[in-house]
Amino acid sequence: MSSKICKMLGCEVPIFAFSHCRDVVVEVTRAGGFGVLGASSFTPEQLEVELRWIDDHVGDKPYGLDIVVPGRYSKEAEAHAGRLDALIPAQHQAFMDKILEDAKVPPLPPGEAERIHDEILEIGRNRTPTGGMRLVQIALKHPQVKLLVSALGEPRADVVQVLHERGILVGALCGKAAHAVRNLEAGVDVLIAQGTEAGGHTGDISTMVLVPQVVEAAAGRAPVLAAGGITRGSQVAAAMALGADGVWCGTLWLGTRESELAPFEKEVMFAAKSEDAVRRRCRTGKPVRMIKSQMSEAWEQPDAPKPLLAPLQSVLYNPAHERVVRAQRKELYSHAAGQAVGDLKHETSVKDVMYTLQLEYAQAVERMASLSE
Ligand SMILES: Cc1cc2nc3c(=O)[nH]c(=O)nc-3n(C[C@H](O)[C@H](O)[C@H](O)COP(=O)(O)O)c2cc1C
Repeated sequence: MSSKICKMLGCEVPIFAFSHCRDVVVEVTRAGGFGVLGASSFTPEQLEVELRWIDDHVGDKPYGLDIVVPGRYSKEAEAHAGRLDALIPAQHQAFMDKILEDAKVPPLPPGEAERIHDEILEIGRNRTPTGGMRLVQIALKHPQVKLLVSALGEPRADVVQVLHERGILVGALCGKAAHAVRNLEAGVDVLIAQGTEAGGHTGDISTMVLVPQVVEAAAGRAPVLAAGGITRGSQVAAAMALGADGVWCGTLWLGTRESELAPFEKEVMFAAKSEDAVRRRCRTGKPVRMIKSQMSEAWEQPDAPKPLLAPLQSVLYNPAHERVVRAQRKELYSHAAGQAVGDLKHETSVKDVMYTLQLEYAQAVERMASLSE
């Protein structure tokens, strides 16, 4: 199981793993796939530590990095030099506080609250063009980073140029064929066709419909990875049959022992059905597929304020989420996850997942071949 993209990036199999967890990135890469670290939840200083750790554990293999810079963001936040929470309207803060108070979720411990808050505000800045560039600068210091992926908008031409000069390929997520065209014009080398069933920010079109449309739009100019809903080797085979060069998975890794999720968070994932992974705006201001909870549904009620523009909704949501996690309140817990969450039943390991995907892929290909005998 190999394709053009393996040669372009120097991996053995075209299985790409998006994860915020360095252990997942390292284990997938060591198993022959290509790990991509979701960088938008780190401060530049934290990212430097993470990348150094990955460099130390991944041998001489290449890996990637993913940043999120929304096309529509709060210009006020971009220009604001002070604390971003100063820009949260009182009505929004009061609504969020009431959800937590009504549910009797304890506040964060003193001191800790301030530390976490500052960190979250700092991370909120990553989701502006200037903030995203700070992360790119860190990536440039790590020569094994061979792919930089941009979510939620085309990368800037000057950024693409710098990356290309350093031999780094540029990838971009596409939720429709028009995104693929715009990304190719911006100089993107790898297109990730992400269907609506995916976890995280997601569009309206399903993977089955989107992948061939993006393949057609790419017209051989860039390889396409299929993303959204993939947890089985048969789906990898289906993606290749649709014209993809490989697959890009996110939800699948949440159930591995290497994943960053705490045991109580994994229990939520293993109990969730596919229909529990819904699209809501309360997390970042844009539609994110996430596990449905009392928190996500409160923001859907008619009395809820309209979610804020990025990055301000995250600045409001993330401290509340941290309180929920610390209190281990499953009924309020809404982590990003795709419809594939319904396939996660118990803890696995990255090594097992990589093996099973390839075994099932081979079985699916054999089954297909037998159809034309
Ligand atoms: C928990 C989680 C967080 C995500 N965060 C990001 C992100 O920060 N940047 C990004 O490009 N994609 C993000 N995604 C989307 C993934 O890159 C990927 O496209 C998606 O997970 C694929 O679909 P799947 O979830 O069905 O495997 C996230 C996905 C999950 C599950």
